[in-house]
Amino acid sequence: MQTVKPEIQILPSLLAADIGRLEEACLRAENSGADGLHLDIMDGHFVPNLSMGPEVSRMARRVVKLPLSTHLMVTRPDLFIVPFVEAGTNTLLIHVEAESDVLRTLRTIREKGVRAGITLNPETPAEAAFPFLEAVDEILFMTVHPGFGGQKFIPGVLPKIAEIRRRAPTLDLSIDGGINRDTAGQAAAHGINIFIAGTFLYGAEDMAGEIENLRRRATEAWCSKVS
Ligand code: DX5
Ligand code: ZN
Repeated sequence: MQTVKPEIQILPSLLAADIGRLEEACLRAENSGADGLHLDIMDGHFVPNLSMGPEVSRMARRVVKLPLSTHLMVTRPDLFIVPFVEAGTNTLLIHVEAESDVLRTLRTIREKGVRAGITLNPETPAEAAFPFLEAVDEILFMTVHPGFGGQKFIPGVLPKIAEIRRRAPTLDLSIDGGINRDTAGQAAAHGINIFIAGTFLYGAEDMAGEIENLRRRATEAWCSKVS
């Protein structure tokens, strides 16, 4: 398959950092060569957990220059566009399973001048993304059930990724949940170019080395299973 290869990017997920040392965790990601920072926002309704709000994004914006990618695991993402744009986020990722009008919400996000993306839960079929391929800058694939870090990668999501990569050769496709050296290679083989890793990167002794390992694995395995 002929593609203009999208850039391989590695984003640590702040959810796995020590909550008492979040500034240091942001700086650690930046100083380790990360391409951005992933922020997980949970409302206790769309997912059975609560996490951070716009103030954490504001703190990250103050502390690092890295692009901030905000993953809205909330029932009404349309209500949180302005607070996160004002808090300095660069990308807003909404879930297609949430209760807002997806197209309208994506348009509003872009109108505010930030990148817009949709997220698909593990069981959500590829078809759910088809109507939005022109309206998004990124599609995020969950390879765990959203709500908690440290879960096991669900490999059954991989064929769905390859299917969307065939339809969208140059779009940014990202993956979230259970990413480590092995699963990053599998994901890249199926067309993922943005890798989000929480437990693996914040648990590493050498975050910079592991970011380079993920980048190398992904580059080597890129699209070998997409045809
Ligand atoms: C889960 C979050 C993830 C989480 C991933 O709901 O969306 O971003 O931080 O954590 P790991 O990498 O530990 O699976
Ligand atoms: Zn996430």
